Amino acid sequence: MVKKTTKATSAAPQGAADVILQEETRPTVGRYMYFVIGYFFLAFCWQMAKVADAVKDRWYVFDPESLHQVAQAAVAAAPGDMPAIVDFIYGNLSATYPPSQIRLNPDNTEWMFNNAGGAMGAMYLIHASITEYLIIFGTPLGTEGHSGVHTADDYFNILVGEQWAFQPGSYEKEVYGPGDVHHLPRGMVKQYKMHEGCFALEYARGWIPPMLPFGYADTFFSTLDFFTLWKTSVTTGREMIGNLLIGKI
Ligand SMILES: *[C@@H]1O[C@H](CO)[C@@H](O)[C@H](O)[C@H]1NC(C)=O
Repeated sequence: MVKKTTKATSAAPQGAADVILQEETRPTVGRYMYFVIGYFFLAFCWQMAKVADAVKDRWYVFDPESLHQVAQAAVAAAPGDMPAIVDFIYGNLSATYPPSQIRLNPDNTEWMFNNAGGAMGAMYLIHASITEYLIIFGTPLGTEGHSGVHTADDYFNILVGEQWAFQPGSYEKEVYGPGDVHHLPRGMVKQYKMHEGCFALEYARGWIPPMLPFGYADTFFSTLDFFTLWKTSVTTGREMIGNLLIGKI
């Protein structure tokens, strides 16, 4: 088609205006084709993402309700005593879920710093897989920051201390204390503060890998603490792969 046009133009030159018209037509058609192909490609990706999003629920092992009950039982058994609370939670979970179903990290001395959204604390990673993670997170000093925009639902079970939260449009703070759960639905953002000392059992379910950049951004743009980055990556990778090997997505 294009070749023919060129031939016709060279065989019978019709003036500059026609040539310009022909040359303008060609890239416009090309761009239109790319647009159509791009549109169908995006539509396909969107459908695949919707399918993946619909099936992800079948891979959940934990559920927010029973974790909340375990957190409340731990708080009731040893109020204010974090080492005992952590032992209680791990003991309960490892007795409830067989290792063939889900991999849990038994090493509760494996703590590492976590900087994200301007807040700083430490975490012990109990479980990490593609669709769930469970950590103990907190600091005895208090911290404050941005919750992050997450592709997972987040359940923050307070163990000791208080967590405060705020959303634009409100004039009051939300207050969560020991035994309370602060549910941050997927996509919702808040400012939060772990007022003075606070530790929590944080459970996230949804697509976990897209949450990792938020967990890493402060390292690259602020702390430059690559030791912590390395430790976080090794631990998270080890747990995710360990879970994949037993078929826990
Ligand atoms: C774990 O804690 C829950 C909630 O308190 C309780 O119902 C359950 O019996 C506990 N399981 C074990 C194995 O201790």
